[in-house]
Order: sequence, then structure tokens, then C-alpha cells
Amino acid sequence: MKPLDLTNRWIMVTGASSGLGRELARVLARDHGSNLVVVARRRDRLDELASELENNHGVSVRAVTADLAQIDQVDRAFAEATQETPLYGAILNAGMTHFGKWDELGWEEYERMHALNVTSVVRMTTKLLPYLEQRREQGGVMLVSSMAGVVPTPYQTAYSATKAFLVHYGCGLHHEMWPRGVSVTTFVPGGIRTEMTEGAAFNDLRSWLMPAERCAREAVRAFRDREYVFSPGFVYRWGSAVTRLLPQRFFISRVAEQYRRSLERSRG
Ligand SMILES: NC(=O)c1ccc[n+]([C@@H]2O[C@H](COP(=O)([O-])OP(=O)(O)OC[C@H]3O[C@@H](n4cnc5c(N)ncnc54)[C@H](OP(=O)(O)O)[C@@H]3O)[C@@H](O)[C@H]2O)c1
Repeated sequence: MKPLDLTNRWIMVTGASSGLGRELARVLARDHGSNLVVVARRRDRLDELASELENNHGVSVRAVTADLAQIDQVDRAFAEATQETPLYGAILNAGMTHFGKWDELGWEEYERMHALNVTSVVRMTTKLLPYLEQRREQGGVMLVSSMAGVVPTPYQTAYSATKAFLVHYGCGLHHEMWPRGVSVTTFVPGGIRTEMTEGAAFNDLRSWLMPAERCAREAVRAFRDREYVFSPGFVYRWGSAVTRLLPQRFFISRVAEQYRRSLERSRG
């Protein structure tokens, strides 16, 4: 398949009210002239973004408010996104983390994270892929996972497991959907400077965080080029290649130590 042609096409971006999602929307509008359906819970943020992109880049933007941790709202978001505008692609980016000891994660919060990071993505792709296939435009979908989905990450243990699901799910879908004319890309960023990493618990890890705008540019390039699995940033790509050569248990024990120290220092 040729690269995605994003100009004047409608692309849905979930979790577009802040962080990586907002930058993805900005890059798509500014650099590719894409029209956008932006999805999140905070309506005011989405409306602000819509005005910014429409005024600065002459694209059309539709805001859809939805709590994607609720299955009926995932269905409604898809219905609203496709009702008046033909979607050509989607970046499923909305997600949440829990940074702390595994036994400090309450059951309700765990269920919410699983519903958002895993179930909503499966539900949305289950609707999106047949839709895109039927349109016969060779569109594409990108799932936003994380390096934590590739390397088990203690103190983000349950989050890391939800993101590992997305790596396996995205890779499996890529192989199944490629011959059917729709690309599926899995994006695996390391740390990014966003609201998600604002808390003091991330203080010791902050030097590793990539600016959201740069991460978004690399993400959109990978989406456009229908990459299989893509990690932004040379240091991360190089680092993950090298660490694959180390015994996993040894490497993960170093990660655990760094995360534990950062967490405990933030608690004084
Ligand atoms: N930051 C990192 O270091 C990092 C690293 C690797 C991967 N990632 C992944 O990158 C993606 C974006 O994260 P970010 O760092 O940009 O975080 P962020 O700034 O906290 O943004 C999260 C986005 O998801 C939306 N969202 C959260 N809960 C939602 C819900 N229940 N329903 C609908 N939307 C919801 C938020 O919007 P509302 O609050 O308005 O709903 C927001 O737009 C996530 O999937 C994350 O796992 C992040």
C-alpha cells in the first residue's frame, strides 16, 4: 500500500484535549491539512483546540465529548464521528496510568484504566476496521501503546500490562488487515512531557521525557508511512535495541530501582 494521503481527509484522534493527542491534532492539521474529529471528556479544551486549528490552518474540526471508559460512550463516539463525515483514519491515543505500588491501585481505578486503555480500543477498532475496509480507501489506524508495553515496568505494573495488550493486539491486527487494505500501526513512545507525567512521582525521571510536539511529529510520520511498530526518538530506539541484548530480569530490576527511588523521593 502507498503511504496514507492525509490531506483533506477526516482523521479521528482520541484523547485530544491534552498532551500527545493535542499535539497529534496540531501536526495533522498544520503539516498535512487533515480535517479532524477530536474526542475526549473536556469539552472546553476540545472547542479551544477546534477554533485554534480552524483559524490557523483552515481545516474543519468536529469535537465529540465522550468518556471512553464507558462502552456505550465509545459506541456513541464512533457513531457521531462517522455520522456526517467520512473517516479515513484514526489515532486511538486516549489513555491513563497509575504510577505507584501495585497494591495502592484501587479496584475501581484499575477497572477504569483497563476499560479505557484496553476495552475502549478493542471496541473502537472492532467498529473502525470493517468501516474503513468497506470504504475501500486504504485508510489506517494507529494504536498508542508505550515502551512500558514492551518492557515490563514495575510501579506502573498494571498500566504496563494494559499497554502490552495493545502491542500484541496492534501487531496481530496489522497482519490480518494489511491484505484487506487497511494499515494498523502500533506506536510505542518512551516518556513524554504531558499532564500524565506532571506529578512529583516523575521528578527523577523527567530528564528522560520527550517534548510532546516532537513525539507527535514522529508519530504522524509513522502513521502516514504505515509503520508496523514504531518508537520515537533515536535514544529510545537505540536504548531498546541494546537492552534487548541484556538479560531482561537484570534490566527490569534497574528500571524498578529507578522508578522506586523517584516514587519514594516524591513522598519525602
Ligand atoms: N506521557 C507519557 O510519558 C507516555 C508515554 C508512553 C505512552 N503514553 C500514552 O500516550 C497517550 C496519551 O497520553 P498523554 O501523555 O498525552 O496523557 P495526558 O496528557 O494525560 O492525555 C490523556 C488524554 O486522554 C484523555 N482521556 C483520559 N481519560 C479519558 C476518558 N475516560 N475518556 C476519554 N478520554 C480520556 C484525556 O482527555 P480528558 O481528560 O479531557 O478526557 C487526554 O486528552 C496515552 O495512551 C498514554 O498511555 C504516554
